[in-house]
Amino acid sequence: MATINDNYLKLKAGYLFPEIARRVKAFAEVNPDAPIIKLGIGDVTEPLPEACRSAMIQAVEDMGDRSTFKGYGPEQGYLWLREKIAQHDFQARGCDIDASEIFVSDGSKCDCGNILDILGDDNKIAVTDPVYPVYVDTNVMAGRTGEANDKGEYDGLVYLPISADNDFIAQIPSEKVDLIYLCFPNNPTGATATKEYLQAWVNYAQENNSLILFDAAYEAFITDPEIPHSIYEIEGAKNCAIEFRSFSKNAGFTGTRCALTVVPKTLMGKAKDGSDVEIWKLWNRRQSTKFNGVSYIVQRGAEAVYSEAGQAQTKALISFYLENAKIIREQLTAAGLKVYGGVNAPYVWVKTPNGLSSWDFFDKLLQNANVVGTPGSGFGAAGEGYFRISAFNSRENVNEAMSRITANPY
Ligand code: MLT
Repeated sequence: MATINDNYLKLKAGYLFPEIARRVKAFAEVNPDAPIIKLGIGDVTEPLPEACRSAMIQAVEDMGDRSTFKGYGPEQGYLWLREKIAQHDFQARGCDIDASEIFVSDGSKCDCGNILDILGDDNKIAVTDPVYPVYVDTNVMAGRTGEANDKGEYDGLVYLPISADNDFIAQIPSEKVDLIYLCFPNNPTGATATKEYLQAWVNYAQENNSLILFDAAYEAFITDPEIPHSIYEIEGAKNCAIEFRSFSKNAGFTGTRCALTVVPKTLMGKAKDGSDVEIWKLWNRRQSTKFNGVSYIVQRGAEAVYSEAGQAQTKALISFYLENAKIIREQLTAAGLKVYGGVNAPYVWVKTPNGLSSWDFFDKLLQNANVVGTPGSGFGAAGEGYFRISAFNSRENVNEAMSRITANPY
C-alpha cells in the first residue's frame, strides 16, 4: 500500500472555512427555512467590473480566431500585464520593482503555500497569533512543524501574539527567526501597519538574514495616505521580502482567479553548502515546472483593472465594501460590542460579549440570528474570545444582519 504524507495527520481540524461551511450546512438541513446571511469567509458578492468583463469577452473572441488564438502562455504571466502591475502598483508608489520580478498566478493563497517548495525545511518560522490559517497549515503539511498542543499551537513555530493590548501589532521577536509571515491590512483583525513599524521588521530581517513573506492581498482597502501599500515602500525590503497580491478582493476575482507574487532579483537565500542563491531563480524554476500560467482570458480581465474605467470601477467596489464595514462597526459599537479594524480593511474584529468563546458566539449568532461569521479561535489560540465579521456582502444583507445581531440574540 502506498504511504501517505503523515504531516497531514498533525492538522488539528478541517481547514477553517470548509469547517464553517460544514456546520452551516448541518444547521440549514435542520432549519431549511432559516434566512442565513453569510459574513464568514471573505468572498466577494458584487459583480466583476464592466471593464474586466468587456476585456474578457474580447479575449474570448481572440481565442476564436486563428490569428489571435493563444495556447500556453508564459508561466510568469504575459508581459503586458506584468508591466501594468509594475507601473501602477509599485513604480507609481516609488517602489523599484520591475515587470521581470512579478509572477502572475492563480491565487495568493496558493502562492503562500507553494513558496515553501523553494525554502529550506530547517528555517525557523514566525507567525502572528491570530493569523490567516494558510500560513500555518501549509507549514504543517510540508513537515516544518511538530505536533499541535491542546490549544492548537504547533511545536516548532514561533507565535507572536496580537490582541487589543498591543493594538494587534506583533512585537518584533528578540530571538532570531528565518521566515516571518506578515499580513497588512491584516486578515483577520483588520489592523494596519505604519511605515515605521514595517521599517523595524525590515531592519530586523536585514540584521538576522531573515525573509519576510508579506501578504498584501487587502492593500486596496487602505484609504489613509500615510499607510504603506507595499513592503517595497520600505527601504531595504527588496533584499529581504517577497510580496503576495491578489485581484480577488479589489476586482472581485475570487472565482475568476488571478494574483501575483513579487520576488525581487536582489533577494538571496542560503544553500546548505553556504553559498548564496538567487531566490528569483528558484521561484522561476518552480513555476516553470509546476505551473502553466493563468488563462489568457483572465489575464486580459486583470489588465483591464488598470484602465481608466477599471480603476474607477474597482475604486467604487472597494468603497462599497468599506461602507459595509463602516455600517458593521457603527451598528455593533452602538449595540455595546467592542470592535476593531474595518477602517482600512474589509474585516471587523469583534470582542465576543459576555465572555462567550468564539465558537459559542458563532453558534448563538447562527442559531438565533441566522448570521454566519468566523470564530476568532479558528485563526489561532490568541483569537479565542474574538469573532471576525466580513464586509463582503450586499448592502441589504449587511443591514439585515446588523439589525438581527443588534437585537441581542446572545
Ligand atoms: C478569508 O476569509 O480569510 C479569505 O477569504 C481567505 C482567502 O482569501 O483565502
